[in-house]
Parts: sequence; structure tokens; C-alpha cells
Amino acid sequence: MPEDGGEPISFEEEDAGLVTIIANQAAMAIENARLYAEKDARISELQLLLEISNIMRGTLDFESLLYIILTSVTMSQGFGFNRALLFLHDEKSGTLKGEMAVGPLRAADASRHWHSFTPKGKTLQEVVLEYGKFNREAGFEIDMLVKKMSVPVKPDKGALARTVLERTSFNVADYSPAEGGEESALSAMGFSTFATVPLIAREKVVGIMVVDNLVTRAPITDEQLEFVQLFANQAASVLETSRLYKNIEQANRRLVDARELLVRSRTLATLGEFSAGIAHELRNPLVSIGGFARRLARKLPPDSEEARHARIIFNEVEGMEKILSQILEFVGGAKTETQQVDIIGVFEQVFVLLHDAINSKNISLQTDFDERARTLLVDEVQMRQLFINLIKNAVEAMKGEGGSLRVKTTLMETEEGGVGLEISDTGVGISSEDLEHVFDPFFTRKSSGTGLGLSVCARIVEGNHGGKMFIDSRKGEGTSVLIWLPPETLAGGESGGGRGPLSGNG
Ligand SMILES: Nc1ncnc2c1ncn2[C@@H]1O[C@H](COP(=O)(O)OP(=O)(O)OP(=O)(O)O)[C@@H](O)[C@H]1O
Ligand SMILES: [Mg+2]
Repeated sequence: MPEDGGEPISFEEEDAGLVTIIANQAAMAIENARLYAEKDARISELQLLLEISNIMRGTLDFESLLYIILTSVTMSQGFGFNRALLFLHDEKSGTLKGEMAVGPLRAADASRHWHSFTPKGKTLQEVVLEYGKFNREAGFEIDMLVKKMSVPVKPDKGALARTVLERTSFNVADYSPAEGGEESALSAMGFSTFATVPLIAREKVVGIMVVDNLVTRAPITDEQLEFVQLFANQAASVLETSRLYKNIEQANRRLVDARELLVRSRTLATLGEFSAGIAHELRNPLVSIGGFARRLARKLPPDSEEARHARIIFNEVEGMEKILSQILEFVGGAKTETQQVDIIGVFEQVFVLLHDAINSKNISLQTDFDERARTLLVDEVQMRQLFINLIKNAVEAMKGEGGSLRVKTTLMETEEGGVGLEISDTGVGISSEDLEHVFDPFFTRKSSGTGLGLSVCARIVEGNHGGKMFIDSRKGEGTSVLIWLPPETLAGGESGGGRGPLSGNG
């Protein structure tokens, strides 16, 4: 009892006993009141936890959840810390990755930071959501800094790593991380007295939170930390759920995409078959129209209007034929129909077709056909397309006059056997960089090219006839296209020695 310096009072023994009883009772009452107050505080803490947890459960969006968590930790109606950082634990790389931060970067910014937000007359839900939005803008600086942080989770690596490894919260005072270590970024943000809390869900540390009171300098008590830990566990489980949900959503997205692709490719396949059918039907009459127009153009006096018209028809038909062939090959709808084909005859047809182009450039044509490989089991339409594409490329590559075009066929006498075809020119050649891409669809160096020519050729040779195709080229010297067709291509039996064209009907 305090002395007040007044008259000393003397007590009877009985009085003393009474006072002791009263004192004991008072002590009990005080203790009761303290317990009651504590319980009251505990109840309101739990109430807060419940309310925040309800708000968290209102969203499955990961980013929004992070904001709700950090906002709950920092707002005065929540845990009231001045600042909070959140790191996510990446188990694969063994690092803590800075994810999000709220609060002022410097103590001096605090009034500016907090002043513009008034929580009066708002529900907790409204406060969380609005404060979250406010934090997003006001906490921009610190958020940027934290997002750059990546802290290895290794023993002796400092407070953050230990929080993960030991799965427990730390109350840290006067922190000084190793010089230049990853955690030195914390010091740069003014974190010297702070607490760390692990976020644990399903036995795993999914991340950690770092909180401090930079501005108010209020000490962080162990009770407070215990309470935050309770919250952190809830937050972790909601975060984990959201992450799983995100994964499911992504998987679902991929599934939907795959299904769409399947539907699209089925539609394409039907469309392909359809257009291939049409293209196939149109091409043969077109070849005749073109052929007649060319013949007409030759017969008519070259300067006449009629000859000019015939040439236009011929050129247009050629363009149309090209489009049809590319469609046919590209949709892959054209069925490969192998039959006995006079391959030398096909070459000769193509020379006639491209006669004008070859002649106008004074290109000398040299052929070296192997009669033993005249009749092949191949698709005639496709072979014609193959030779047209390759010979046109060769002709187009020879810019000046007087180039030379060599076409050669050989019955291969190697162990593999088969048939070799070779088309060589003395044109501009292909650079080694371009050579890697010439078979890519739509790769072209020509202003009017489709870039489909060679990819169609490769499809015909390799895809449809089981052969192989190579290009050997030197810039400025010329190009050789080498084609190998497998032994099965040799029409039944005559590869053994039967020379000359097959006399059978075919
Ligand atoms: N014989 C060749 N000599 C030089 N370059 C060639 C030769 N053949 C192909 N190329 C190069 O490869 C590219 C692709 O050829 P591809 O035949 O696929 O398409 P394109 O000829 O450009 O177009 P399109 O065939 O529709 O006319 C050409 O643009 C050209 O640069
Ligand atoms: Mg071409």
C-alpha cells in the first residue's frame, strides 16, 4: 500500500485479518477482470479471424487473396502491423520469391501513405477490399522491391530461410544480414526489427510473411505473433486451395483447347477432302485449256491481239493450276494413287510445259535419263507437280542468260537400291542460312512466291512416296536437288535388267 505521508494509522489484529480478506478478494476480482478482459480480447481476436477468413473464402483468385491477406495484416482493424511482405516458397528451386508487399517504404512516407484512407463507417469486408485497392497504388514502391527478391532457402542463410526450414515464426531485433546477401534487400527497405511467420498448408511451407512496425515502433509481442500464426495457417490453406483451383482451371483450359483443336482438325479434314476433290476434278481440264491456249498463241501471228489473248489465257490457267496443286497437296487430301508411270515421259511433258520459260532465258537443257528406271510405281499427278516445282525453281534461280539445267535419273546400284533423280542448275544458289528454311511452308525469297513449292515437294517425295530429298547448294554457283525413291518404286520386276519402256499396258 502506498504511503501518502499522513498520520500513521494503527490497526487492531482483527482489522488486519479483515483487510487481508478484502485484499485477497480484491486480488481475485482484479484477476477475474484481467481474465475476463483477456477472454474478451481473445473472443474479439477470434471474431476478427473468422471475419477475415470469411472474406478470404469469398474469392479463389490468387492475386486477390494475396492482397486480402496482406491488407488484413496491416490495417488497424486487423492485425495493425505497419508493413507486411509476402514470399512464396518455390520448392523446386529452393527459393523464396518475393511476391507482394504493402505499406510505406520509408517512415517519412507513412502519413502520406495512410492519410488518404479513412475506414470510418465501413464494414470489415469493405475496408479490406478498399484498403487493398489503396495499398496497390500507395505501396507501389515497396512492392516493386520485394518482387525482385529471391532468397535461397539454405541453412545459415538468415531469418527468412530459417522460417521455412524450422517452420516457425521469429521475432527478430536489430537484424543485420550478411553483406551483399539476398536478404540485404530487407535492410535496404528499413527492416531491422521485424517478425517472420511461416505459411503452412498441408504440412508444406507455402510461403512466409514478414511484418514490422517501422513507423509506430511498437514492439511485436509473442502473443501477437501467436495470433498472426493462427491467421497465417488459415491464409496458407486458402492460398493452397486457390493454387490448386488455378491448376485445375489451367488443366481444364488445356482440355478445352485440345477439344477445339480436334473439332477444328476434323472440320479441316472434311474440308480438305472436299476441296481436294474439286481441285482434282478441275485440274485436268485446266491442263488442256492451257495447252490449247499455248498452241494457239504459237500459231497466231505473235503481234496479233488474238495471240496476246491466248497468252493471257495460258498465263492465267498456269496460275490457277498452281493454286489448285498447292491446295491439293497442302490439305493433304489428295490421295496418292500409284500406278506404273513413264517418269521420263513426265519429265518431257514438263519441259514442254515450261518450254517458254526455259527458252526465253537461253537456258541449255541437258538430260541424262536411265532407261532402266523409266517405269516407276508412283503417283503421276504428284510427280508432275514435283518436277514442275523443282524445274521452275531452277529456272527462276538463273537470272541472266545462258545458264544450264541438268536433269538426271539413275537406277541406284548401291546396296539400298532405288531410283535417284537429280535436278541441277547454275543459278544464284542458296545461302547456308536459307538452306535451313527452304522446306518450311511459306518460306520464300521471291516477291510472287508462295513459299509452298519445296514443302509440297518434300511431302510428295518423303510423305507420299517414302523417299528422301536433299538440296546441295552453293551461293553464286548453283543448286542440285537430289531425290531418292525406294526400291519399291521400281515397277514389278524390270529393275532386274529389263531395259527400255514397258511394253505392257500399265
Ligand atoms: N534452285 C534454287 N536455286 C536457288 N534458290 C532456290 C532454289 N530452289 C528454292 N530456292 C529458294 O528456296 C525458296 C523456297 O522455295 P519454294 O519453291 O518453296 O518457294 P518459292 O519458289 O519461293 O515460291 P513458289 O514455289 O510458290 O513459287 C525460294 O524462294 C528460293 O529462295
Ligand atoms: Mg518454288
